[in-house]
Amino acid sequence: MEKLFIFDTTLRDGEQVPGCQLNTIEKIEVAKALEALGVDVIEAGFPVSSPGDFNSVVEISKAVTWPTICALTRAVEKDIEVAAEALKYAKKKRIHTGIGTSDYHIKYKFNSTQDEILERAKACVKYAKRFVEDVEFYAEDAGRTDNAYLARVVQAVIDAGATVVNIPDTTGYCLPTEYGAKIKYLIDHVDMKNAILSTHCHQDLGMATANSIMGVLNGARQVEVTINGIGERAGNTSLEEVVMAIKSHKELKIETNINTQKIYPISKMVSSLMSMPIQPNKAIVGRNAFAHSSGIHQDGVLKDLSTYEIIDPKDVGIDDNAIVLTARSGRAALKNRLNILSIQVSDDELTEVYQRFLDLADKKKDITDEDLLTLAGKETNGMNRVKLDYLQVTSGVGVRCIANVGIDIAGEKFDAAASGNGPVDAAIKAVWEVICDNTVINDGETEIKEFLIQAINKGSDDVGKVHMQVEHRKQIYYGFAAHTDIVAASVKAFINAINKFIK
Ligand code: KIV
Ligand code: ZN
Repeated sequence: MEKLFIFDTTLRDGEQVPGCQLNTIEKIEVAKALEALGVDVIEAGFPVSSPGDFNSVVEISKAVTWPTICALTRAVEKDIEVAAEALKYAKKKRIHTGIGTSDYHIKYKFNSTQDEILERAKACVKYAKRFVEDVEFYAEDAGRTDNAYLARVVQAVIDAGATVVNIPDTTGYCLPTEYGAKIKYLIDHVDMKNAILSTHCHQDLGMATANSIMGVLNGARQVEVTINGIGERAGNTSLEEVVMAIKSHKELKIETNINTQKIYPISKMVSSLMSMPIQPNKAIVGRNAFAHSSGIHQDGVLKDLSTYEIIDPKDVGIDDNAIVLTARSGRAALKNRLNILSIQVSDDELTEVYQRFLDLADKKKDITDEDLLTLAGKETNGMNRVKLDYLQVTSGVGVRCIANVGIDIAGEKFDAAASGNGPVDAAIKAVWEVICDNTVINDGETEIKEFLIQAINKGSDDVGKVHMQVEHRKQIYYGFAAHTDIVAASVKAFINAINKFIK
């Protein structure tokens, strides 16, 4: 097995998405999760770009132990000095310096020549070597750089001491065969000494994962990736896609250090902290990535997962494969879900429930567990002790947000009012007051860990879907709800989660 190094740039290239900037505390949280995930290198920022970025590199260097911490620079001495200063607490450190090498960059960005750029490339690596042993060079826009010139640059920076040479397809232009051939050309024409080549592929034509894999198949030994493929424009290469492609294809004889069971949790964390919802059909981590809705597929998966699943969802940290019940689901899928809900039915009963299920599925797109319990004639009160009776919220600009809620706990009615820093905060506080006053749950043992509001379609009349993660006595419970009123959806998602631990 050969080792493929995973270089994560979620906190640098990934964080360049407009409106998705993280503060230092959030970046430390992500960096620690990346360390637990097992990435080899964390690109923590571009220190000269802002005091915030500088500070994040300093704090991440202190907080993280075993991955190498990397800081980006241009081929500018001041940048390199500032990066070295920001990395001073890192146990293992790398400076990532470089310059554009395509004709577009040389002519229009630098108004320079190939020879001058080659000299600047060597000089920046030599300068960075004064501060750190581990220097990575990037040939920006290598995807559109002539291979013969690129090979000269790569040879020069390796001779100057670069340990890793990054071949970015900055504009996401390359085709997989073209990118693979570029890496092969470099391997064949450069004396690599002990240096390795790195891929850094952008997603503009939707080929980032394919290009990275082609790079690896042709000799690259590091891939630069982000969680959920986030990044400016169409994004970067997804860590989860490359890692699972490598893991699924054992015949490649390549391994990574990634603990794949931590992929789903970190994907959710990054999505939530950056307020970047994951598209439902996103490979590996999308909500529907393992959700089989056609009857034929559901039947197959229930007989044996290998029929339609190439990855065991547990391998990426997802508890079970979500079979979505729709009008196309078969009897086996219905029976399976009823069993999960602890409802045993005879064959005759199943035939009856299945007929009622098909009638309902014709009218309703998603059939919930609640619906199934009703169809099977089971009381749902036992399952949902807490229900929302009513919700009234006052909010706006220049007024205090106040919420009044009516809550039904196992048939008894309670109400409460609370204020908060926004309508959701006020409403959740009011619900929580009722719960703490009228159940055995105490304040202080429950905390909302994650809260994500997604619009399902577009437009101001859209349905808001809320996903919430609530921690209660160190255990995580999930709550979901959808409503045209996002405050109502938030309260319902909260109640949905707390019903899972209020017995
Ligand atoms: O896409 C790119 O070329 C980059 C470099 C700065 C590494 O992000
Ligand atoms: Zn990039």
